This record gives sequence, C-alpha cells and structure tokens, in this order.
Amino acid sequence: MKAVVVQGLSYRYRPGGPAVINNINFQVARQEIVAVMGLSGCGKSTLCFCLSGIIPHCWGGVMEGNVLVNGKNTRELKLARLALEVGLVFQNPDTQLFSPTVEAEIAFAPENICLPPESIRERVDYLIDLLGIEALREANPYYLSGGEKHLVALAAVLALLALDPSVLVLDEVMSQLDYAGKKRVVLTLKKLREQGKTIIVVEHDLDTIAFADRLLVMNNGESLRLDRTETLLADREFLSAGRQWYGRKGEMETRLN
Ligand SMILES: Nc1ncnc2c1ncn2[C@@H]1O[C@H](COP(=O)(O)OP(=O)(O)O)[C@@H](O)[C@H]1O
Ligand SMILES: [Mg+2]
Repeated sequence: MKAVVVQGLSYRYRPGGPAVINNINFQVARQEIVAVMGLSGCGKSTLCFCLSGIIPHCWGGVMEGNVLVNGKNTRELKLARLALEVGLVFQNPDTQLFSPTVEAEIAFAPENICLPPESIRERVDYLIDLLGIEALREANPYYLSGGEKHLVALAAVLALLALDPSVLVLDEVMSQLDYAGKKRVVLTLKKLREQGKTIIVVEHDLDTIAFADRLLVMNNGESLRLDRTETLLADREFLSAGRQWYGRKGEMETRLN
C-alpha cells in the first residue's frame, strides 16, 4: 500500500474562488522522501494542509478529489485519528508553539497520550540531543529565532512518534536555518527514512533537497513535474527554465556553470 495517494485534488479557499490546488495527482511510497518546490504562492502550504487533513476538516472552502494516508481517506477520519498517521510542521511555527519552555513543548504530545513520565523524559532528551537544541531547553519558544522555532516544532512533532505517525509533512522547516541547522535536519530526516518514515518536505534550496528521492515541482496550483531527484537535477533545460518555478535565478546559474 502507498503511504500517500493524492487523487484529482483541487481546493478553493472559497466557493467560486480560484483553484489554489488544481487537479493534482501523485503517490508516495513508504520510506520515500518527496521534496515539494515551487514559487511562493503556488500552493505548497495548501497542499500540506490537504495532506494532513487540516483541509477539509478545519477550513471551509471547497475540496475536490481525495487524499489517502496509509489507505485511509482524510475526509473520513477525524483529525485526532489522522494525527496517528500523519504529522505536520507548519511553515509559520508560531501557530503551533504555545508552551512556556522548549522542554514542555516537546513533552506536550506524549503527556497528552499519558505516556509514563520516565519515557517522556527519555524521549525529550533524545530529541533535544538529536536536533542539537540543548542550549534552548529552558527557553520560551516564543522568543526564539525563526530557525530555532522550526527545530522545536520539528522536535514536538517527532515526539508524536510515540503515536507513530508514519508520514511526516514539513513545510519549509529549513528555510530559516543556518548551514549547520539544515545539515542536522537533513541527517534527522534520513535517519527517519531508515526507520520507515515517509516524508514530504517543502524546500526551496536545490542543494538541500538533493537528499530527496523525488521532487514535485508545483506551478500555479498544478503539478508541473514529478521526477526522481537525480533525473531532474540533471535536466539542464528544465533547470534553466527554472525562473518560472524556482525564482532565484542567480543561484541556478551558479549551479549550472
Ligand atoms: N486562508 C487563505 N484564504 C484565501 N487564500 C489563501 C489562504 N491561504 C493561502 N491563500 C492563497 O492560496 C495561494 C497558495 O498559497 P500557499 O499554499 O500558501 O502557497 P505557498 O505555500 O506555495 O507559498 C496563494 O495565492 C495564497 O494567496
Ligand atoms: Mg507556504
């Protein structure tokens, strides 16, 4: 069974409004990492909301088509039940951080499902070490930098692994990180893939996404191309036309030369 199946997915934030997602179809295998790219406003975050069931459960608007996670239709499962299958880290981490300390933030989900205290402590220590945020342990997430907030939000979602969501959806979690932070997250994601997780990650930086198995390039709510990473990165013609979907022409040219 595929980890994620997206069938004829379209979404409008309001009836009669523009189709922000326009008839997208793709499948993601178990233990696969798919990176989603595309210009700002092309619908990447909206796709993440659809993959995690926030659309259609929390928002109005009009969704057509279906999203299946581990064979389960997101329309048919309650959001709380879906959280056992798929975890999302938001592009704007402020919307999901609310505890007084980083430690408490990471402990929140496991506490909520009443894991024993010693196993929570173990899990929190492991994640703080994994993401290299020991210095932030007692800090208030609210006052952290954007990049640090993303690391904490990622740790908090990984803490949910106690619930074992097999699919992770990460919306630009690396965009505000420095090189060392990105490297750490990439290593973490590779490790999670080895452990059997399926990962869909929105990311702009071509150098960073080289570790993904496949790339989904979006343009204007549509899927422009879905291909193996090495195939796409070797397609000079497609890359040089990248302005339409990549936007940072300067960087593309440095890579191509
Ligand atoms: N809550 C919303 N209501 C109406 N339109 C929205 C809303 N959120 C995003 N949009 C619009 O949907 C389109 C896609 O946005 P988004 O999914 O955030 O793109 P991306 O993540 O690729 O930058 C944009 O045109 C944006 O203005
Ligand atoms: Mg976005």
